[in-house]
Amino acid sequence: MGQLINLEIDGKKVQVPEGTLVVDAAKRVGVDIPVFCYHPKMEPVGMCRMCLVEIGRPQFNRETGEFDRDDDGNPVIQFGPKQETACTVQVSEGMVVRGFSDDVARARKDIIEFLLTSHPLDCPVCDKGGECPLQNLTMEFGSGNSRFLYDEKKHLSKQVPLGELIYLDRERCIQCARCVRFQDEIVDDAVIGFENRGRSLQIVSYSEPGFDSYFSGNTTDICPVGALTTSDFRFGARPWELNSVASICTHCPVGCNLTLNVRREDKSGGGFAVKRVLPRQNEEVNEIWICDKGRFAHHYGSSDDRLTQPLVRVNGELTPASWEEAFDLVADSLMGAGSDLVTLASGRLSNEDLFNLRSTTEHIGGKTALYSEMAGGDLVAQVGVGQGTNFSGLGPESTIFIVACDLEEEAPIYWLRVKQAAERGAKLIVANPRYTKIERYATHVIRYPYGAEAALVLAMMNSLSKKRVELPARYQEIDRSRDVQDAARDFAEADNAIVLFGSEGTGLHSSRQLSQACANLLVLTDHVGKANNGLIGVWPRANTQGAWDMGFRPVDDLSELIRSQKALYIVAADPAGDDPAFVEALKSADFLVVQELFLTETAKLADVVLPAQSFIEREGTLTNGERRVQRFYSAVRERSQARPDFSITALIGKRAGIELEDRLAVRVMEQIAGQVPDYADASYDQICAVVEQWPIIGRADLYYGGTSYENSQGIGFQLLPGVQKGEQVSLTAVGPSESVSTTDVDLIAVPVSILYDRGLTVVATDLLHQRIPEPYAILHPQTSTPMGIREGAYIRLNLSGTEVEVIAHLDETIPEGVVLLPRSMGIPIHRPTPADIMVSEQAVT
Ligand code: SF4
Ligand code: SF4
Ligand code: FES
Repeated sequence: MGQLINLEIDGKKVQVPEGTLVVDAAKRVGVDIPVFCYHPKMEPVGMCRMCLVEIGRPQFNRETGEFDRDDDGNPVIQFGPKQETACTVQVSEGMVVRGFSDDVARARKDIIEFLLTSHPLDCPVCDKGGECPLQNLTMEFGSGNSRFLYDEKKHLSKQVPLGELIYLDRERCIQCARCVRFQDEIVDDAVIGFENRGRSLQIVSYSEPGFDSYFSGNTTDICPVGALTTSDFRFGARPWELNSVASICTHCPVGCNLTLNVRREDKSGGGFAVKRVLPRQNEEVNEIWICDKGRFAHHYGSSDDRLTQPLVRVNGELTPASWEEAFDLVADSLMGAGSDLVTLASGRLSNEDLFNLRSTTEHIGGKTALYSEMAGGDLVAQVGVGQGTNFSGLGPESTIFIVACDLEEEAPIYWLRVKQAAERGAKLIVANPRYTKIERYATHVIRYPYGAEAALVLAMMNSLSKKRVELPARYQEIDRSRDVQDAARDFAEADNAIVLFGSEGTGLHSSRQLSQACANLLVLTDHVGKANNGLIGVWPRANTQGAWDMGFRPVDDLSELIRSQKALYIVAADPAGDDPAFVEALKSADFLVVQELFLTETAKLADVVLPAQSFIEREGTLTNGERRVQRFYSAVRERSQARPDFSITALIGKRAGIELEDRLAVRVMEQIAGQVPDYADASYDQICAVVEQWPIIGRADLYYGGTSYENSQGIGFQLLPGVQKGEQVSLTAVGPSESVSTTDVDLIAVPVSILYDRGLTVVATDLLHQRIPEPYAILHPQTSTPMGIREGAYIRLNLSGTEVEVIAHLDETIPEGVVLLPRSMGIPIHRPTPADIMVSEQAVT
């Protein structure tokens, strides 16, 4: 913090750090200076003049070399001849600000009249009406009359799709440039901009498809008028009709804090329906931003395809049944299987669900398995980031190492937070076999062949330690690389160091090697056991870390495990949908029960299907990548027979003779706190604790921060990693990688993660269909050209015996001899796999 400056704003004394803007200093003492173009998360531009104030400074006497004082000894304050913009002027010692004098009021009245010269004043039909800064400030400071003729207003188009997600009403735009600056400054996707001049100036999209950014929805929150609206909310409801419910995004491990706006409506049978999703401020997680997946991909909750009642197979057909019948049948069958039961669950479930699942399964004598191809959750529990970690606190003294991860695709808000840390001076090491967007901010870029991710981390350790790990001959180049050594040195010398490891090109085995190598690097360099240091898994699901914490572990040969059991209890996982090769194994079980939201390919094979509630309908907690436990609440009352997962499992458990909580998630959390040592302090009281956050947003003055919601339901509770609790950690042998590498075969297919995939919770949102691609493969032109494959052609791939048809995309930034295949797109790719391209006649264009 810089030197503290004392000043007075509207009679209130305030002390703020040097460099603070007057508008922010005023906010700290409850003086709300109206703004339009200023936003506390962006650089000021002084474009709209709404924040004009009178500013006085102590009068300096050049003759005496001192400040003049009045008879009482107080400094004489000299006010400038003109008003100044509070959003561009920094505080200075002794400054006096008049934010609400008569002259200031007159200036504001003029500015508002000017802004309204061509504004359509269609508040009654505007989506922003009721929460509109322009409407509110006009009511507060406007004159009520205009000297400009209504007929002379300039008319512009009113429903312009900037893309399929965001619409622009050109008449309403007040040219504040918040949207343009957000895209440029905050998220580095400069895909919209101003075109023309004067009253004809308008926002346009430069990208194809339109407004091509994962963060576009945030512009609708910060637009101070109704010019930008989301296509799923526009004309859908009025703000004053909406109730707000706190929630957590369930799409990735960031765990962005959300507010679900709900309203009763006819199409929901008079019940509540989610009308829109907005960010909820959590400066330690998502600040006031969310990505478009989090904002739009909630419509699966209201999909007509949701399961609504239990189904039991009768004469080969899944047939509606009562819960009692279903529970009895499931409990009898699972108990009958005993130790031949396996419960397979994913990180889509809450901690409460997973706890009850494990308790029930173990009570019966069965085994649990995590449906995940990423390892390392146990290591994150041990050497994960320390309590108090906050990306906002990382600057020049910090190094962030991102390995095997396309951060923007896998966890968009982590991308944003890491980018900001780099802009504040943090060093960034990005290791990936191909270009990813976060490289724009990298201090060190390291390339390695797919399959060599753990070797790369070991090579970094080799350059720091006398005790070397011998790497295979094919990785000698990495081991000797100057780039690797330089990056390792910056990592070791940093005061704070964080590693984010993802799943780019890895399978379970290589992920295990990689996570262990990353944990070792952190231990070796003593970057564990303290805030802003440690390991973060960029997991495929929102609560994969919670699943590890609740005792679930992925298995090496899932097919074999499934095949060898008598009974299978599969919850929130669809192995048959992800890979048809699982179908035969699933069919071999004597009894299969599936607990799901939809009738998935796996559910279609089941003997019993149990309908589960979505995160919108029930409550619970999720543990994010930084091991912050956060709570979500029930927003919509479920009208079908679906139940929360923890409740279903508890009622099965009850029949099997174990008492588990089936009604209140809070009681399950109490049991978790009693039985899972890491969660001993994670009570709902802790999770729901509220702290004052800066900037202050979400209060009455929506003009300052936008329509993001204030967080009054809690910022969550970050767990202590083992080493911060005093557990001893040591270096653990990583072992050789069994993963096939580009150095072993001519052509290797590797899995990568993308944001808009064909996951169950994404495809149910029609709005996103334009963004969800057809199954595709990415190849280097040197790989494809000899076969005559051009951009956009259909090709058939043989993945070690399994054939798939995909569209070929050519990209010079990926290595030769590699085919990138996205996960969760119906392509059965679980790990690096030797591949052949079979070019049919239609395939070659
Ligand atoms: S569209 Fe909204 S945020 Fe963008 S310049 Fe216009 S008023 Fe400002
Ligand atoms: S970054 Fe992740 S958690 Fe945040 S809104 Fe997007 S998908 Fe959800
Ligand atoms: S000029 Fe200060 S808010 Fe626009």
